[in-house]
Amino acid sequence: MFDVKNLLGLSDEGYKNYKRAVRAVVVSNLCMFLPFVVIVQSIITLLAPLMAAAAAPGGVASAAAVFAGVDRTRLMYYLGLGLVSAALYFFAYRNEYRKTYTTAYAESEKIRLEVAEHIRRLPLSFFNNKDLSELTTNMMADCTAVEHAMSHIVPTLAGGIITDTVVCVLLAVYDWRMALALFASLPLSLGLILGSRKLQAVLGERHVQAKLAVSGQVQEYLEGIKVVKAFGLAGEKSKALEHSLRNMMKEAIKFEGLTGIFVVLSMMILQVGIGLVVLTGVFLLTGGNLGVIPFLTFILISAKIYSPLIVIFTMLPEFFYFLVSTKRMQKLRLEPVMEGTKELKINDFTIELKNLNFAYHGKDDVIKSVSLSIPQGGVTALVGPSGSGKSTLSRLIARFWDPREGEILVGGKNIAGIDPEALMQYMSFVFQDVVLFNDTVKNNIRIGKEGASDEEVFAAAKMARCDEFIREMPEGYDTVIGENGSTLSGGERQRISIARSLLKNAPIVLLDEATASLDPENETLIQEAISELVKNRTVIVIAHRLRTVLGADKIAVLENGRLVEEGSGQELLAANGLFARLYRIQQENLGWTAGRKASA
Ligand SMILES: Nc1ncnc2c1ncn2[C@@H]1O[C@H](COP(=O)(O)OP(=O)(O)OP(=O)(O)O)[C@@H](O)[C@H]1O
Ligand SMILES: [Mg+2]
Repeated sequence: MFDVKNLLGLSDEGYKNYKRAVRAVVVSNLCMFLPFVVIVQSIITLLAPLMAAAAAPGGVASAAAVFAGVDRTRLMYYLGLGLVSAALYFFAYRNEYRKTYTTAYAESEKIRLEVAEHIRRLPLSFFNNKDLSELTTNMMADCTAVEHAMSHIVPTLAGGIITDTVVCVLLAVYDWRMALALFASLPLSLGLILGSRKLQAVLGERHVQAKLAVSGQVQEYLEGIKVVKAFGLAGEKSKALEHSLRNMMKEAIKFEGLTGIFVVLSMMILQVGIGLVVLTGVFLLTGGNLGVIPFLTFILISAKIYSPLIVIFTMLPEFFYFLVSTKRMQKLRLEPVMEGTKELKINDFTIELKNLNFAYHGKDDVIKSVSLSIPQGGVTALVGPSGSGKSTLSRLIARFWDPREGEILVGGKNIAGIDPEALMQYMSFVFQDVVLFNDTVKNNIRIGKEGASDEEVFAAAKMARCDEFIREMPEGYDTVIGENGSTLSGGERQRISIARSLLKNAPIVLLDEATASLDPENETLIQEAISELVKNRTVIVIAHRLRTVLGADKIAVLENGRLVEEGSGQELLAANGLFARLYRIQQENLGWTAGRKASA
């Protein structure tokens, strides 16, 4: 019916386990019928003398005389069989439990890891148009959904369908007329469930979307709590949250309510079969076309036969609901990752940008026909007004994104053919927005180089001028900094990220300076840290304070995504173009603030 392997995204091993689980379910379902067969047989044995007496000429003897004729040895035999079948059922069920649950959890751990690994390898372009709460939901809720589907639903469903088909065929062979009566209502009730699938899918999707909206709102509310408080938005923001919560409730009620109606209705229709069996049986029996024993067997069976079907019926809508999750998960797992060769050796770190064009998500180009040569072992500064594309250009060089047109060569090799992680061995990146983890200072620096010794970490921290402030923290290098380093100042965060890069010791350094204004002492410290970092390396620095880059080997000036000037600081000042103008404005501002301070 469904391609389960692809649907749940199972590994080969997981699929094998899944098939084992289905077999276990079938065996345990069939075992469930065993005690029942024994009971029917016992009743028949008990009734045999009664029926014989009724059929005998001369009428009915006394009850005691009739029951004296019961075949006791046979009854004892059935009792024994009953015990054996109960034991069998116990073992079969235990087996089913193990096969379905244990393997489901093992597999879902695998799936989670795989999804995490896949997400890690996705290009940044993927994350840009996704909000994080949706991804979190993908990682957590959808994985849980698949886990649940694997442990509770799919094997039971598949096993149930197989068992019911087998029982159905057996009964039809036994007496097809009664079997027909028993299952006459099945097509209609099944049709009702399947027919409502579209509606359920739509409602299910809406319910999931409502849940996503809520988790997004909660996340935004918590993350933005500072802004919310500062600007007195508490009322407004909590109203939005309240609205999305109420919407989720409405969707949940609609979804559950409507699904429930269909399930209950189809169950009712299904159980009309009991009446049909009694009617058909009586009709056939009185016409002399059916024995008492098959009649009794079917009556007894009709009480039992529907329960596995009902389980299937209640599970089908749940299954459809999970399809929403699994589909989204499939989509995520099929997102193409950035690929390229992992085997590479670069010795020359000249960077060549050739006619680059780039746009974020098919919007207008933010990098327009940029060609630039970045010499090995020198400092190249990217400058320009805010929004001119400096950070974007540096991200292209690190292959966080691929350009729409043009190529980037490192040592003559096009980076479009290099695995991003392999390329990253050669680069270290100090971001404009430093990301720190909720971990110790030591581990935050160690991110630069896996397995670096404590001494290496301390040395890097000293070079980056952060040793002093770290040692003043309550537990020194073992102090845990809050989420994203919220307990540190902007300058301290930046120096920690420089320490990371120093530890990494990569031949190419990309430096996106923080725009946040720093106090003079911090600025001097950062400048010192940076000058350690750029020694003997190919450096691309994005600088906002232009006087700090006057001495760079090369300055490239961007404006609106275009490269408008390039040359040394002196050349550009002499040319009296954009750079010279920006430089003058900054100098005047500096003079102005200095003047104001002096007069204050
Ligand atoms: N992730 C993104 N998605 C869509 N557009 C973006 C993204 N990042 C930047 N942009 C847009 O691209 C343009 C260039 O941005 P970029 O961050 O490269 O500028 P910048 O020169 O680094 O500016 P600043 O000096 O303020 O850091 C801007 O118009 C910006 O709005
Ligand atoms: Mg920037």
